[in-house]
Amino acid sequence: MDGVTRATFCSRNAHKARELERLLPGWSLQTLDVEGWPDEAGETYVENARAKARFGRQHGDPGTWMIGEDSGIEVEALDGRPGLHSARYAPEGAPAIARLLRELDGVPDRRARFVSELVALSPAGEEVAGTGILEGRIAAEPHGSGGFGYDPVFVPDGEERTVAELGDEWKQRHSHRARAARALLAALGAALALVAAGCGGDPKTANHVLAAFFAGGPRARQLGKVFPHKTGSVPCVLEPGGPATVKPLQATCSTDVSLVKPDRAVVTLTEAWNHGAQAHTWFFFIRRSGVVESVVQEGAAAPQARR
Ligand code: IMP
Repeated sequence: MDGVTRATFCSRNAHKARELERLLPGWSLQTLDVEGWPDEAGETYVENARAKARFGRQHGDPGTWMIGEDSGIEVEALDGRPGLHSARYAPEGAPAIARLLRELDGVPDRRARFVSELVALSPAGEEVAGTGILEGRIAAEPHGSGGFGYDPVFVPDGEERTVAELGDEWKQRHSHRARAARALLAALGAALALVAAGCGGDPKTANHVLAAFFAGGPRARQLGKVFPHKTGSVPCVLEPGGPATVKPLQATCSTDVSLVKPDRAVVTLTEAWNHGAQAHTWFFFIRRSGVVESVVQEGAAAPQARR
């Protein structure tokens, strides 16, 4: 299963499962088909999402990640209701929308937000989480047939149409769940970088990415002479110094790797000097094989001797 992460989505909501599958490319998702789900008794979305993932950990395949999700819609004029209780406000779809529109009848403040929280538990029990928020307003009446739940009455900020009109492609890029999935993947990348730095677990993947990168081209080989070949920082000399007047430029060079997808990563190389007051960072977007797709640089101009 090289390059594919196996996960179980701990939810009974088929709409969410379909959305999430498209939001986690490179993951193979299965659903959890068991009885006796815990009540959504938490005081926050993250507590509920964690409870679902833990339930999955107890009853599902021990070899897969477990993903729990909790979401809701918070309406400003209703003091954030239905919020955590969105699923129990009224049966999903037309009845819930009818109740919401009734409560907002004649209310000029239509501001609202969707919130999604994702919690993933690794087979060994480590937890990674991601939050996504989509701001918008409640329409006067339902429009559109895409999505599910409150989508026919939710108009995102910057849009004139409801999420149900904007459709599934739009949701895949912009929804609260899409944002939470991106945050989860970023957090997972950071967690893997920690693993690569020696904080437990199996450092193989991130180290493989770095080794391939530093061997992969003249530029990476050049930079690889200064930057550490596993995540972390080392003291380095950016300019060797020279006759009489030029002092060597002391700095710290750090390497980091975040996996944005199982087969793609961002390798970050940062050199910081003047006691950290100045820094230059390269972001290399690379394939797991080490092939560089693009490079972005930020910060102070890199010292001449290093380029
Ligand atoms: P729960 O996360 O299973 O507690 O359910 C949250 C409820 O919020 C769902 O039943 C929907 O009514 C609503 N909801 C969550 N995400 C969406 C969405 O993407 N579109 C519309 N409604 C949603």
